[in-house]
Amino acid sequence: QTYTVAVVGATGAVGEVMLSILHERGFPIKELIPLASARSAGEKIDFGNQKIVVRDLATFDPKGVDIALFSAGGSISKEYGPKFAAAGAIVIDNSSAFRYDDDVPLVVSEVNPDALKNIPRGIVANPNCSTMQMVVALAPIHRAVGIERINVATYQSVSGGGRSGMEELGKQTAAILGFQEPDPQRFPVQIAFNLIPHIDEFMDNGYTKEEMKLVWETRKILGDENIQVNPTAVRVPVFFGHSEAVHIETRNKISVAEARALLEKAPGVVVVDDRVPGGYPTPVTHASGQDPVFVGRLREDVSHPRGLDMWVVSDNIRKGAALNAVQLAELVLKNRA
Ligand code: A2P
Repeated sequence: QTYTVAVVGATGAVGEVMLSILHERGFPIKELIPLASARSAGEKIDFGNQKIVVRDLATFDPKGVDIALFSAGGSISKEYGPKFAAAGAIVIDNSSAFRYDDDVPLVVSEVNPDALKNIPRGIVANPNCSTMQMVVALAPIHRAVGIERINVATYQSVSGGGRSGMEELGKQTAAILGFQEPDPQRFPVQIAFNLIPHIDEFMDNGYTKEEMKLVWETRKILGDENIQVNPTAVRVPVFFGHSEAVHIETRNKISVAEARALLEKAPGVVVVDDRVPGGYPTPVTHASGQDPVFVGRLREDVSHPRGLDMWVVSDNIRKGAALNAVQLAELVLKNRA
């Protein structure tokens, strides 16, 4: 059987990779419908060796769509997601619009696929990129010994801010190397040769919304409201791949050897942990353009008897967004069969 698949936001940083991953994985497609704003309607995009014309979301009739992958921002998802679901599609939404609704499953394919058994509103939420890679690495440890608390600092690439984020890093880098003044637009301050401890809006408690996503989503995906999560989310001048310094406190002690053994057989995880120069994952050397979540720098926390530290790196556009969305679509079809 084959299916009609719509990609909403097909011209964006995530949408483009959704298309290439659907093709790479041989998703059973009857018709692929790329959708975007009126600005890009009429343009042609590549799907394998086909060229497909982008259509305007605003005037598109979703009847007949089986699966819709949304990555065009929260307000587009809020407006159009329910319309696609009402027309019979299963919507897999990469925005945060529905993630915290009790009747919308929030799913990482390797971690809580059973949550897809019940999709009451026809909408499935794809987690935030930084939560995604963290829980892929932490789920096996949580199941084995229980995680009580997570301290995490993220180092998030500019592609998480979409195409305009990548363009801004490129332009500012060129400007500064040409002895010109950078002109911050997409990010609040200069991102080239800098770091910005601010992603998404500020909340009343002083955390940013990006940080609180790590709190809320980790609990929902791991199904444990007691896990304490203390994040700092930082934008860094890297194009692709988020990195995270993750410090956990477990209920029962786990040694590095035990953690490594669990991670080595965990789905979606690759351990890169040699204590030599370069023996750890980085966005450029390991993650960019790749599917797995890479884990390195495993060590026991010298400051806590049940503490374990690790460094987690993954391609935020692939596992952090497009790949997981396609994996969820594959699981939805498998559950239907
Ligand atoms: P468009 O290229 O027509 O603006 P990114 O995250 O890389 O910035 O991409 C955002 C994606 O969301 C793009 O594909 C963009 O299409 C799409 N998008 C933005 N606004 C709308 C809209 N009003 N209707 C449909 N698609 C939209």
